[in-house]
Amino acid sequence: VPSVLFDNHGRPLEYLRLAVTDRCNLRCFYCMPEEGIKYMPKHELLTYEEMERLVAIMAGLGVRKVRLTGGEPFVRRDLVPFMSRLSEIPGIEELTMTTNGVLTAPHVPELARMGVKAVNLSLDTMDRARFASITRRDELPRVMETFYALLAAGIRVKINAVVMDGQNTQDILPLAELTRDLPVDVRFIEEMPFNGGSHAATLPWNHVRIREHLELNLGTLLPVVSRPGDTASHYTIAGHQGRVGIIAAYSRTFCGTCNRIRLTAEGGLKTCLYDQGVLDIRALLRGGSSDQEIALALTSAFRNRAANGFEAEQQRPLHQLSFESMSTIGG
Ligand code: GTP
Ligand code: 5AD
Ligand code: SF4
Repeated sequence: VPSVLFDNHGRPLEYLRLAVTDRCNLRCFYCMPEEGIKYMPKHELLTYEEMERLVAIMAGLGVRKVRLTGGEPFVRRDLVPFMSRLSEIPGIEELTMTTNGVLTAPHVPELARMGVKAVNLSLDTMDRARFASITRRDELPRVMETFYALLAAGIRVKINAVVMDGQNTQDILPLAELTRDLPVDVRFIEEMPFNGGSHAATLPWNHVRIREHLELNLGTLLPVVSRPGDTASHYTIAGHQGRVGIIAAYSRTFCGTCNRIRLTAEGGLKTCLYDQGVLDIRALLRGGSSDQEIALALTSAFRNRAANGFEAEQQRPLHQLSFESMSTIGG
């Protein structure tokens, strides 16, 4: 078993977030404008073969967990056979994905068969009209179908709900109530301001307010010890089968224990959510570099990580936040 690679601040590299596309079939207003973003031409995206090669190289450097992100992963053709090949790469112990659930339900049995144990499902409301207004698409029924299909297949589900003042705060409690009878994690995420997203100077629903709201209505939240590198604080509630979680994506830094790297759909390596891409892996792949040369480039990029990219980002005025949309960086 290869040993884990540590960065220049002593943080392990274990978790790869791989964006397989920048496209999405929803238009969540906090993520994208109505007309969508300018998508990358297909030849600029890494091919599945290129991604497989990279994941194998990274597994050799100690990466154990791969999360497919997007855009929406299922918008890319032939995703399932690709996942199945990824699941067989030696060293990859955990293959998972973050999906909006619109196209996912029919593939759930195959996901279970290839050993996918957990899926994160983006769902901000279970009210059909509000879902349509937040995502600009009337797709709630298909998302709920995915939710129940995952549960039925025994795949662990974490729901990601972005909390937005004036939009879906009335949905916090109904979503949290899912944990009463179902073994799911429901995680509430502070909204992060992107270009095109909301630009309030302060965040009306920060992690403290979300927590107080849950506690006032559902009873005491008992903190669960989190895994290193976890972005969420998880809590149990007496009598509930599942857990609630809060991701202080905007007001807190997770940098100290960050164990992840990101690959954008066009093959840019990001060693921090807030960097602009530190290495053009596509150029290496297409320029004839050997596995060993790529491993070396990855290692040296990872040994030059910023200590705290979040702090630098927080110093910027809100209207100057540096990236366009979550969908181009894979969350
Ligand atoms: P688990 O592997 O299940 O813990 O999921 P995750 O939290 O790593 O991934 P997910 O794709 O479900 O993302 C949930 C939320 O956390 C999204 O809003 C992400 O943008 C946010 N998030 C993920 N990674 C980071 C990070 O490194 N920093 C910050 N600030 N937010 C992050
Ligand atoms: N703020 C917080 N979370 C966001 N996501 C997308 N855009 C934002 C934002 N502006 C979340 C999605 C998805 C996850 C990958 O990122 O809801 O669950
Ligand atoms: Fe698509 Fe996710 Fe962005 Fe919504 S938040 S538009 S589901 S990528």
